[in-house]
Amino acid sequence: MRLLVTGGRTGYLGRHVVRVAAAARHDVLAVGSADADVRDRAAVDALVERLRPDALVHTAYVQADPEVTATGSAHVAAAAAAHGARMVLVSSDVVFGGADQPYPETAPTDPVSPYGEAKVVAERAVLAACPAAVVARTSLILGDSDSPHERLVRSLAAGADGGLFEDERRCPVHVVDLAEALVELAGNDVRGVLHVAGADGMSRYELGRLIARRDGLDPETLRPTSRVALAVPGPVDVRLDSTLAAQVLSTRLRGAREFL
Ligand SMILES: NC(=O)c1ccc[n+]([C@@H]2O[C@H](COP(=O)([O-])OP(=O)(O)OC[C@H]3O[C@@H](n4cnc5c(N)ncnc54)[C@H](OP(=O)(O)O)[C@@H]3O)[C@@H](O)[C@H]2O)c1
Repeated sequence: MRLLVTGGRTGYLGRHVVRVAAAARHDVLAVGSADADVRDRAAVDALVERLRPDALVHTAYVQADPEVTATGSAHVAAAAAAHGARMVLVSSDVVFGGADQPYPETAPTDPVSPYGEAKVVAERAVLAACPAAVVARTSLILGDSDSPHERLVRSLAAGADGGLFEDERRCPVHVVDLAEALVELAGNDVRGVLHVAGADGMSRYELGRLIARRDGLDPETLRPTSRVALAVPGPVDVRLDSTLAAQVLSTRLRGAREFL
């Protein structure tokens, strides 16, 4: 398979997708904003026309910029449709607001942040342009020791200011499991929305304690805080139900209690 990965040069997830796909002997094309800024429709179309991928895993986004996250995804999907490439969009549990967990794929989206709203727009644009596309919603991505989440825990354990939300609950996923699932999805014909998250729902605080223990740090140095009490905007409990992914994928999505 000739696989194009946006965010594949510098992105945390994208680099893992590139590595996993290359190890499986796919022909991998890692691209970044220097190759084509996804906000530029013509540039994205020209890139896809030139590289002619069979499939495209779209990881690129900027959390605070809907032009990249939403409009950029629409441009990538339009190019995939125009040049006959299979489209895989990486989306997020933040399309939900925290009212009805664990969320199945059939739950209506109800984002409570601009980032969540941008992801909903991206999902709709992708499925409209490419009806056979798959939208893979995931959760906190970590596991190789180098994720922002793991680096944050190490800095908190070393005495940095701050705490970890006890009331924000999600389903963390191992970055390699997710990368393998995305490469599998690029090569199969699963269509529509699929929840591709880890098997264990937990708070950021519990996740932090597991990371600290794995890294030989004292979990008691970590302080629990509350997103609700501190009035930090964003969803609180957005655990995803990934039962369907376990049925349609051969990649197993471990829970954080297992991989940490
Ligand atoms: N990290 C998490 O815990 C998490 C949780 C849930 C969902 N997700 C989803 O997973 C995906 C990947 O997340 P990540 O943490 O791997 O992100 P990341 O490390 O921030 O990487 C994002 C990539 O987007 C590219 N990019 C930014 N602006 C661009 C533009 N205008 N045009 C083209 N490329 C651009 C960047 O590449 P350049 O350096 O080349 O600009 C960068 O490599 C995202 O879709 C995110 O919504 C992440």
